[in-house]
Amino acid sequence: MNSSNPSPASPINFEKPLLQSLNQQNPGKLPFWFMRQAGRYLPEYQSIRQKESDFIKLCLNPKLAAEITLQPIKRFDMDGAILFSDILIVPYILGQEVDFIEKFGPKLKPIRKIKDLSILKLDSIYARFQNIYETVRLTAAALPPDKTLIGFCGGIWTVASYMIEGQSSKTFETIKKECFNDSEFIKKLFEILEEASFQYLSGQIDHGCDAVQIFESWAGVCDEKNFNKYIIKPTERLIKRLRGKYPKIPIIWFPKNGCENFLALNKKLDINCIGLDYTVHHQTGLSLQKDYTVQGQLDPIALLSNQSSLESITRELIERFYLDAIGKNRYIFNLGHGILPNTPVENVEFLVKIIRSY
Ligand code: CP3
Repeated sequence: MNSSNPSPASPINFEKPLLQSLNQQNPGKLPFWFMRQAGRYLPEYQSIRQKESDFIKLCLNPKLAAEITLQPIKRFDMDGAILFSDILIVPYILGQEVDFIEKFGPKLKPIRKIKDLSILKLDSIYARFQNIYETVRLTAAALPPDKTLIGFCGGIWTVASYMIEGQSSKTFETIKKECFNDSEFIKKLFEILEEASFQYLSGQIDHGCDAVQIFESWAGVCDEKNFNKYIIKPTERLIKRLRGKYPKIPIIWFPKNGCENFLALNKKLDINCIGLDYTVHHQTGLSLQKDYTVQGQLDPIALLSNQSSLESITRELIERFYLDAIGKNRYIFNLGHGILPNTPVENVEFLVKIIRSY
């Protein structure tokens, strides 16, 4: 198939338990997946990673990326497979220099001025993600029919922060200064990212993703005003465009450390599900569940604790969010952030057994 001219997305298959929950229908069991479920805690991931030391090349290798996407499903039988890639593939494909350095994380050549924006190219941007679409096709073809394939992108604010700061930041000083100044630069960068993210998610949906998640990992670092202007507003615009093209695609929004600010704003987003990070107060989670399916929120560190603690924390979460009439239709078990590389595989197995007992 020519990836610049795809066939329309196939109709949503409601036989998939995760999709049922995303559509507020009772799947008859507790669906689950884990953020960063494909990654370094898995020996089978490590063995592929040893053969390909360049992380970007790995993300752009459809055969290997599809294989990695399927690894956790084969081992743990999750209800959802998340495409193996990274949120920083968007700046990379746009034309920014992006590297992943071992024991350090991402390093980008920072973009800080209007003139720097000229390196970012939007022409034929949809087609330039074609390797990722090939991963989507290969994975969708290999997945059992009851599994949901989840595509994703980073939130515009989060991706912009990496592009401007050049790495994970403690203070977010450069991007925040631009936001307080309402600079022409930040406005233009957000426009570019909105277009690229829209095209990228469209391509993932066109080629076989059943649902998409927007990872707003740095939603928790803004004051109230910037949260509204630089997180909620751009997200609303992106979602509106997606809804215009794919009225039924399930959308999950994960505003890490941003749920309280979002609830206080008293605004509704046209999403199906909100991802709760592990800091969200249970009352906030339950309030959000009145409007959306909720997903989360086991602290990934609980997987490093002893099994009896892990079990009681897990059961408490399930009792809170799943066991009543609303919860049965509106809860997806997940972590409150990505699984850590030093997580013992046997603790993941133990957790899966508990989840599957419901
Ligand atoms: O299993 C999955 O969830 C699918 C793949 C996936 C990765 N990154 C793979 C990855 C997804 C969905 C992401 C999202 C992502 N990437 C986010 C949002 C979620 C979050 O964690 O808040 C962010 C902020 C990034 C950016 C990023 N990528 C960082 C900061 C790092 C370095 C820190 C780390 O955990 O290593 C990465 C690298 C990365 N992305 C790895 C993986 C498997 C590790 C690469 C390796 O060394 O093998």
